[in-house]
Amino acid sequence: MVSDRDIEHAVEVLRAGGLVAFPTETVYGLGADAANADAVRKIFAVKGRPPTHPVIVHLADAVQLPAWAGEIPQAAHRLARRFWPGPLTLILKRARGVSGVVTGGQDTVALRVPSHPVARRLLARFGSGVGAPSANRHGRVSATTAEHVRREFGDAVECVLDGGEAEVGIESTIVDLSGAAPVLLRPGWITAQQIASVLGAPLAAAGAGAPRAPGTLATHYAPQTPLLVVEGDLLVELAASLARQGKRVAALAFSEARPLSPGVTWIAAPREAGGYAHALYANLRRLDDARCDTIVVEKPPQTPEWAAINDRLARAAAGSPPAETT
Ligand code: TXA
Ligand code: MG
Repeated sequence: MVSDRDIEHAVEVLRAGGLVAFPTETVYGLGADAANADAVRKIFAVKGRPPTHPVIVHLADAVQLPAWAGEIPQAAHRLARRFWPGPLTLILKRARGVSGVVTGGQDTVALRVPSHPVARRLLARFGSGVGAPSANRHGRVSATTAEHVRREFGDAVECVLDGGEAEVGIESTIVDLSGAAPVLLRPGWITAQQIASVLGAPLAAAGAGAPRAPGTLATHYAPQTPLLVVEGDLLVELAASLARQGKRVAALAFSEARPLSPGVTWIAAPREAGGYAHALYANLRRLDDARCDTIVVEKPPQTPEWAAINDRLARAAAGSPPAETT
């Protein structure tokens, strides 16, 4: 339970230029006063994040948009009306006065109105924008509980609001409305199809010309253990074969049926996308904590509602060496 006193304390920390980790419906955020460039710089230092990587400004209400965005196209009003508060981030031309520290030096700003009740109380009471990336060390698995946040940062973050498990479990959908046509920069729980149906036109996928597309890094959302995504019919065989070579294997599978080899850690994941996304990062952390040689993940269905999950898994796997099965 987060009391009103907890919220007051968090607001004081923000006003003093400190960092507050807070729950959102997607993942936990590591927040600072977005109007205070020095405070935002602390986020980059604590996360170990490159300064060119912009942060999302979280607002209590779409009414605050004009303070942050220089141009608000019709499409932004439509999407905000339909999906805010909720797991959608809009990229708009920034308003004058928005710090280049927040925008990574670009002329656009990322804005979102989250729906988590604790985030809403914090933002309403603070009354201005809170710049917040996901509360994890750069490139690592996002945090979906307050405990994950404390494990990531220890004492480096003075205030952590505990709002329980993040419901959605993966980061917001990001749509860039700053150019001629809307572009999907990051898939999320709100699908490209849902956005397109509100806009009445399909979304373009992020291309080479898109501004600093999120997750263009080779590896992101990644556990420390190398991770492989494999087809379901190969999973048990691969896990058994690695185990025979004396490797310790941690698996995220749909099936409860597991190889009975020693050294295999097995998590049976929910079969529907909502439950899978909700549990995804906690599951990756558990598999990582098993300190195995390899994490193998059974490839989920390739349908629209699994698109964001498949995106995160592909990025978690990027940079991992291929399995040696011989
Ligand atoms: O669900 C979420 O979006 C969570 C919660 C805390 O709100 N936040 C989050 O923040 O995922 P972060 O910083 O981990 O990811 C935000 C992404 C980054 O990849 C960043 O590059 C991109 O948004 N971004 C921010 N501002 C941008 C801009 N002006 N243009 C293009 N991309 C931008
Ligand atoms: Mg992140």
